[in-house]
Amino acid sequence: MERKLIGAGRTSEVYEYGDDCILKLFTDEIKLDMVKKEYDFSRFAYENDLPTPEPKEIMYEKDRIEILYEKINGEPLLKIAMMNVLAIKKILSKMAELQYKINSMEYDNGAYTFKKYLERAIEENIFITGIEKKNMKEYINKLPGGNKVCHGDFHPENILCSNGKYYIIDWMTGMQGPPAADVARTEMILKNAEIPGRAMFFIKILIRIVQSKMAKMYVKEYCRISGMKKNELDIWRLPLYVARLNEKNSKKEEERLMKIIRKLENQAL
Ligand SMILES: Nc1ncnc2c1ncn2[C@@H]1O[C@H](COP(=O)(O)OP(=O)(O)O)[C@@H](O)[C@H]1O
Ligand SMILES: [Mg+2]
Repeated sequence: MERKLIGAGRTSEVYEYGDDCILKLFTDEIKLDMVKKEYDFSRFAYENDLPTPEPKEIMYEKDRIEILYEKINGEPLLKIAMMNVLAIKKILSKMAELQYKINSMEYDNGAYTFKKYLERAIEENIFITGIEKKNMKEYINKLPGGNKVCHGDFHPENILCSNGKYYIIDWMTGMQGPPAADVARTEMILKNAEIPGRAMFFIKILIRIVQSKMAKMYVKEYCRISGMKKNELDIWRLPLYVARLNEKNSKKEEERLMKIIRKLENQAL
C-alpha cells in the first residue's frame, strides 16, 4: 500500500494510516524501550485529559517499530507561525498556557526525572572535558528535583493546531521534574533552533534577534500566567545547553553552543 508521508522529526517519519490514524515509524536508532516510554507517556497524558492524540498501539513492521496514533487534521504551530507572523504573539501565549497546564499536573515516576536526564546527557557527552563533567555532575546533584509533569521537548513543532484546538505530541522525553527546567528548555529551543539553509549572513543575524525576542516574550508570558519568577530559570541553562550538544547539531552550531556554555560556566561554576 502506498502511504502518504505527512510529517517527520528527529526520531521518526509519520504516515497517514486510514482516514483517522497516523503511523509514527521510528528510525533504527530508537529502541523498543524508548518507543514504549513514548507510548506510556502519551497514554498517561491522554488519560489525564491533556490535549493530545490518542495512542492506539505499538506495532512492528519488519525490523522497525511504530506507534499508531489518532490523526489530528491540522498543522504544527511552527508552520502556522511562519505563514502568519502577526499571530506570533498570540501563538506564544497559547503555548505558554499549554505548557503551564502540563506543568501543573503532579507526576511521581522516579525512573524518569529531569535530573536523571541531565546526568545521562553529561555522562554521554563527548564535547566537554573530564573535569567539566565532574563539576557538572556535582552541579546537577544540587539542583531541585520537582514532581510535576515536564514534556522535555516542548516547542512549536510538537504542538499541532486543528480548527483552533491545540494538541501536544511527541512525549518520548516526558518526565518528572520542576516546571522551571521544562520552561528553560523551551526558551533555549526558541532562542537557538538552527536556521536551515544558506540565508545571507545579515538575514541570519536578523532571525537570531527575532528568535531571542520570541524566547523572551515566551518566558515573560509563562511567568505572567504561572507566577513563576524569571530568575528561577537561571540554574537550569548551563546543564541544558550542555545536554543540547548531544542532539546532532551542525559543526557551526556546536561551536556556537560551546561559546554559550563557556560563558554560563564562568557565571555558575
Ligand atoms: N497524531 C498526529 N496527527 C497528525 N500529524 C502528526 C501526528 N503526530 C505527528 N504528526 C506529524 O509528524 C511530525 C513529527 O511527529 P513527532 O511526533 O514530533 O516526531 P519526532 O519525534 O520525530 O519529532 C509532526 O510535526 C506532525 O507534522
Ligand atoms: Mg517532534
